[in-house]
Amino acid sequence: MPTIHTIDPDNIDPEIMAMAASYIREGKLVAFPTETVYGIGANALDADAVARIYAAKRRPASDPLIVHISATSQLDDVVDSIPPLALALAETFWPGPLTMILKKSPRVPANVTSGLDSVAVRFPSHPVAQALIRQAGVPIAAPSANLFSRPSATSGKHVSEDFDQELDMVLDGGESTIGVESTVIDLTGDTPTILRPGGLSAEDLQAMIPELQIKTGYLSEEVAATSPGMLLKHYSPNAQVLLFSGHNESRILQAMISEAEKLESSGKKVGVLATSNQADEITTPNRVVFLLGQSGDLESISQSLYKGLRMLDENGVDVILASTPSPEGLGLAIRDRLYRSAEGHIIQVA
Ligand code: TXA
Ligand code: MG
Repeated sequence: MPTIHTIDPDNIDPEIMAMAASYIREGKLVAFPTETVYGIGANALDADAVARIYAAKRRPASDPLIVHISATSQLDDVVDSIPPLALALAETFWPGPLTMILKKSPRVPANVTSGLDSVAVRFPSHPVAQALIRQAGVPIAAPSANLFSRPSATSGKHVSEDFDQELDMVLDGGESTIGVESTVIDLTGDTPTILRPGGLSAEDLQAMIPELQIKTGYLSEEVAATSPGMLLKHYSPNAQVLLFSGHNESRILQAMISEAEKLESSGKKVGVLATSNQADEITTPNRVVFLLGQSGDLESISQSLYKGLRMLDENGVDVILASTPSPEGLGLAIRDRLYRSAEGHIIQVA
């Protein structure tokens, strides 16, 4: 187990933070909470430290990392030029769940960006993340703190499930409040484009960028090339995920129940990610049902999504049944993560 330090975001222990910050400066790996998901941090300007992130996560070198900063003014250290739109977005949405892809500064080592001439940058709002970056005095490269292709970690406990001696320290600041990763927007092309829907809604961005494009990566190989992390097999639990989609909620529930019964009669153990309007009817003594939140309460659903996937895995289910919310607001990101965890298989309910 890595050394886990509990840290109160509202009352940060200065000794623990000083130690974590010096670890970062020494090239070590420190997992830390952000408002979206936990990250594994290393000094973004130290190529050797960054290489250790890829090794720890067993992540392909072709999947670039996000550089985290603790003030918009720190953008100058990692990007080549700052377009006016980037500054306007920073002013409106930073600190927060927005990652911007910009032209990279030569100071950023090539392995941070997988050799691309762009770099992903984010200014997180979580007080522990901010304190760590500020006190380390360097930008921090950090991917989500899960093993490659596993569901992301939204608590210190999740981080310690996936990692052992690979990490030098884990700062456990409680549960991430947003629960899905940041929204990634590419500002290097002619038209600003969302490469990954996330914690900041597309509607909020559209209000400032009417021409905004959204690429749903799993459908196009093109995006796999521009944003290599958007591979389909991602955020996957060990169990197979079956995803139900449609317009009629009660028919979706009936389809989920009959699928569960069919699977159980062939000897499978079934888990369900259920919303409040599904939980009562779908619960039976042999099923493992995780309550995501009130149906329509997208904040609760996104916050508990990865926790639910991990909990059902821990219970040893063979199959996980879930339904998709409609793609508005946070629903777009939730749908995207569920779709990937189901490896693209959706059951359409008429
Ligand atoms: O919320 C988050 O963004 C979390 C927390 C820790 O900040 N981080 C996170 O990192 O989700 P990661 O490594 O799991 O996902 C980074 C995503 C990947 O899809 C990657 O391909 C994309 O950002 N990305 C990074 N640099 C890029 C670049 N230069 N061009 C295009 N996509 C890039
Ligand atoms: Mg990730």
